[in-house]
Amino acid sequence: MTFILAAAGSAVGLGNIWRFSYMVGESGGAAFVLVYLACVALVGLPVLVSEWLIGRRGQKNPINTMAELARKGGHSQAWTLIGISGVVAAFLILSFYSVIGGWSLSYTLGSVTGAFSGKDADAIGGLFNGLLASPGKLLLWHTAFMLLVVFIVARGVTKGLEGAVRTMMPALFILMVVLVIYGMTTGHFGEAMSFMFNPDWSALSGGVVLAAMGQAFFTLSLGMGIMMAYGSYLGEDVDLISTARTVIILDTLVAILAGMAIFPIVFANGLSPGEGPGLIFVTLPLAFGNMTGGTILGLMFFVLLTFAALTSAISLLEPVVEFVEERTPLTRVPATLIAAVAVWALGIAALMSFNVWDAPVAFGLNVFDLLDTFTSKFLLPLTGLGAIVFAAWCLDRESVHRELSLGATGNALWHATSRYIAPIGVIFVFVGGLL
Ligand code: PHE
Ligand code: NA
Repeated sequence: MTFILAAAGSAVGLGNIWRFSYMVGESGGAAFVLVYLACVALVGLPVLVSEWLIGRRGQKNPINTMAELARKGGHSQAWTLIGISGVVAAFLILSFYSVIGGWSLSYTLGSVTGAFSGKDADAIGGLFNGLLASPGKLLLWHTAFMLLVVFIVARGVTKGLEGAVRTMMPALFILMVVLVIYGMTTGHFGEAMSFMFNPDWSALSGGVVLAAMGQAFFTLSLGMGIMMAYGSYLGEDVDLISTARTVIILDTLVAILAGMAIFPIVFANGLSPGEGPGLIFVTLPLAFGNMTGGTILGLMFFVLLTFAALTSAISLLEPVVEFVEERTPLTRVPATLIAAVAVWALGIAALMSFNVWDAPVAFGLNVFDLLDTFTSKFLLPLTGLGAIVFAAWCLDRESVHRELSLGATGNALWHATSRYIAPIGVIFVFVGGLL
């Protein structure tokens, strides 16, 4: 239970609500959703199980775990690259994640002051654009969010968060359900459901499929060695596959509910689903501003969203801090500060992408989009691919089968999926997306 809470604390975050809904909206709806679900089941699950499997055997941080398992099995030390690229990915992701965490904090305050009540779509959109246009405000909130993360990580009280996750997670879930019910009263629920679940396959392209796979990695916190690090805390008796199934179902439910809550509001107010990263910030305040009890529900929602973002952000900073601690003579607190300042500084470049520095810096993308794209479409899939290939091809097959304790059919299925289906799928999507 404790382990599931920790893993779900990392998995459930802005990725489910903020990123999932805007990606769905931007990528044409149902076709993206269905490919995403397929990626979660066919790639996400085996990669998650592989990371835990490796972590439980290595009993160390991802870099040292990979070094040791590779050495023991007589494989190349190049496998430690998986651990290193994981730390790099966590660092890059946290820099822009914190900017969005800042938006969530800012909306928490906005809910307290009743900034959204009775406002129409134009006014709400104006509030959001005002935030985006102001580097000063964005910097303030990004800094506030990072300070919260640093405070928790530096004090090493990460473990104490379990209790909070245990109550906040179900509360977030219930609020999402309330929002879905509100969506049903807008008269545009059917339209939203068909947008999300009735695919127009012509919307599909290599790029959309790669985006869906990237979202699957991002939302499950895969391809960063984070789940590998968690695996080192797993007891020998824990059933990896059923635990992975639980975490994945939780994470997926939150994302699907978020979509079901947001798109009715989009259609009811004549907004565009392809609004981009601001989607939840121009839709949900509208709902809260117009429903009974909306002020208090809105406040609760943004507090819970910020909390979910914090637990994910902590899991992103942790490996970076550990890396600094291990490679330098620094102790925990200064290591945390150094890692956080570096993340914070990169975050400033990311937040300027929404105003004074929206010019493309490479591949036609601004800094924010570049950070997001490079991690989700490149680093995470490749690191995750490394983890599953290592687990499937380099660990002793018999012992893995014993460890997963599946029947004969289960073993055959695991073997086929982890050795062939998932890795080939990732390579295929990756190459297709790039082309
Ligand atoms: N999975 C988290 C989310 O969906 C984000 C995250 C990614 C956290 C990678 C840790 C590692 O919000
Ligand atoms: Na998630």
